[in-house]
Amino acid sequence: MKIAVAGTGYVGLVSGVAFAEVGHQVTCVDIDSDKVDYMKDGNSPIYEKDLEEMMRRNYSLGRLDYTIDYKNAYKDADVIFIGVGTPEQPDGSADLSYIATVARQIAETLEKDCLIVVKSTVPIGTNDKVEKFVSDYLVNDVKVEVASNPEFLAQGSAVHDTLHASRIIIGTESGWAEEILKEIYKPFNLPVVSVNRRSAEMIKYASNDFLALKISYMNEIANLCELVGADIQDVAEGMSYDSRIGSQFLNAGIGYGGSCFPKDTKALDYIGEQNGYELKTIKSTIAINNEQKLKLYNKASERLITFKNLKVAVLGLTFKPGTDDLREAASLTNLPLLLSQGADIYAFDPVGAENFKQHYPEGKNLNGNITYVSSVNEALEEANVCFIFTEWPEVKEINPKTFNKLMRTPLVFDGRNIFNLKEMEEAGIEYHSIGRMATVRKTIKS
Ligand code: UDX
Repeated sequence: MKIAVAGTGYVGLVSGVAFAEVGHQVTCVDIDSDKVDYMKDGNSPIYEKDLEEMMRRNYSLGRLDYTIDYKNAYKDADVIFIGVGTPEQPDGSADLSYIATVARQIAETLEKDCLIVVKSTVPIGTNDKVEKFVSDYLVNDVKVEVASNPEFLAQGSAVHDTLHASRIIIGTESGWAEEILKEIYKPFNLPVVSVNRRSAEMIKYASNDFLALKISYMNEIANLCELVGADIQDVAEGMSYDSRIGSQFLNAGIGYGGSCFPKDTKALDYIGEQNGYELKTIKSTIAINNEQKLKLYNKASERLITFKNLKVAVLGLTFKPGTDDLREAASLTNLPLLLSQGADIYAFDPVGAENFKQHYPEGKNLNGNITYVSSVNEALEEANVCFIFTEWPEVKEINPKTFNKLMRTPLVFDGRNIFNLKEMEEAGIEYHSIGRMATVRKTIKS
């Protein structure tokens, strides 16, 4: 099967590489020639486990190529996947202009029958519109159909999630399109759910927003746990044995970030409004998450009189471990607040610091100062307070005693509930986390 993939972001690139890996002939198309050259040289533009190695292997085997020449890539493709971005617009709706651009390029280029597959997350009804749009602009007399095939990969485990997906959703309006997609996915040997296009589009939003809702729900329960003296981790464990609830996505914390949950909750809320229906659970999910991102900052502000001239250790900047992505990360909400209060921040993140520097360059910033360090210990050394925003392995591996040994004041605010309360208490740390009682400092550092 000759496949072209439009867009080499997370969805497009990882899908393209996975299709090549199972033996299809794939050309990935992007408008950025520097990025295309970079990939041809064997580099992955995103930090994702196993991806670069798979890109190199499939490129050298001749199954995978990259190009800016979309005309050549599209004209005789059997199937063209669209994996370009659908960014959030100020009103919460999804911006479909990249999809429209690609759809028009395809229509003006096709020389043979082709199935166009939309992988990007799009509002319900978009596939119908793309099909009409393409037929309006078709130059040659060819058969074209559009299918929906949403992607469920998570950043940091994108390759694994694609090759071992929980399910393949195929949204089609004809047996022809359904058969082609089934053929493409045959080598993956995964469960396939065949539905119509609109249901496929809805499955993507409903799935992502349900997971976001689950997190916001646990964050709310966590906040109540703090008030009534319960422990959210024990509560989550107790809940997890019920298979109707499941054991995943029950971790309370500093709120969800990333490129999907924040965008897709707002997009579904917008779709509801457009259709005269108020999605109350989704509205609450969004509101709870916005508040949760400030949870640690508010706790610390109550505890400390000021952050002015305090050395603040920040551990983790990315929205989750395993990625250098900062989109909607809690760090981006909290660090400007700390800096504007005059904090002297020492930030550690194993891969996200370079991206964070684009927002907050090293040195004086707002009313404070920020220094990027390459180890947890450098951040903690002589710190007055420590904030944990991402559960990187380097952070999880910290021996509680290290906080006491290195920090000027062993005061830790943990947005990821990494440490055991008893161990932190025994190590003499004042430890504030989410949905659990704070531990008090029993020993005073000499
Ligand atoms: C998510 C979905 O998991 C994926 O299926 C979809 O295709 C895209 O969106 P991603 O955004 O990469 O993937 O990361 P994910 O691991 O789902 O985490 C999203 C956010 O939720 C992170 O900030 C994470 O820290 C947070 N989270 C996750 C929690 O706060 N608690 C949890 O229990 C799980």
